[in-house]
Amino acid sequence: MGLSYENGIESEPLFDPNILKALDFSKSKVIFDPPISVIDPGENLKVRPLCSGDYDRGYLKLLSFLTKVGDISRKQFLDRFHAMSSCKGMHYITVIEDTVSGQIIGSATLAVEQKFIHDAGFRGRLEDVVVSDEYRGRQLGKLLVETIRLLAEHVGCYKITLDCRDRMVKFYKQLGFQLEEGNSNFMTVRFQD
Ligand SMILES: CC(C)(COP(=O)(O)OP(=O)(O)OC[C@H]1O[C@@H](n2cnc3c(N)ncnc32)[C@H](O)[C@@H]1OP(=O)(O)O)[C@@H](O)C(=O)NCCC(=O)NCCS
Repeated sequence: MGLSYENGIESEPLFDPNILKALDFSKSKVIFDPPISVIDPGENLKVRPLCSGDYDRGYLKLLSFLTKVGDISRKQFLDRFHAMSSCKGMHYITVIEDTVSGQIIGSATLAVEQKFIHDAGFRGRLEDVVVSDEYRGRQLGKLLVETIRLLAEHVGCYKITLDCRDRMVKFYKQLGFQLEEGNSNFMTVRFQD
């Protein structure tokens, strides 16, 4: 791992790309038809860790399909990127790049929380799942979620959870996430919109 350059753009991965290559999709219960995986996500597509150069590959624009992003400068992006990459094993932002356009067209995050409970275990959270609108309906959302689920298991999380809008429950249910009886409330105090 370390700094490399692609088309003149600095490109340091947020985490070791070999971790994604090691994921065992044969263990997956999710059916992909036609079959796709991290190694082979489809023509001209590549699944990889977020890289420092992705500021210039439309990553923030992609996130704006999900929620408000704000006017993030390159420095802000790189400062946050390096703050995350220095916390080894905590932030796994996984993206899909269209290798022809060089743009980031999908992303999902595994955020790992260190605990004392569960034998000083790790809890995973699935966050910020998004696919660019023109690439939807090609199983890429499903691929990202399953990648993060396998990744959470691979790095030793004892569980992975998410919160989502009611209309998204069906999407996540078909990918193995369950509403647990008596334990399906998500509560919030918002300090900002
Ligand atoms: C949700 C999202 C990531 C799905 O991406 P996608 O690549 O189009 O999804 P897929 O092609 O992998 O769809 C997989 C399945 O989920 C279903 N699905 C897709 N979007 C759905 C939605 N919004 N609600 C319910 N089901 C959905 C598809 O119909 C498909 O079902 P099938 O396997 O029975 O055919 C994408 O629509 C998106 O980025 N939305 C905006 C951001 C967002 O809402 N993210 C989720 C935050 S919790």
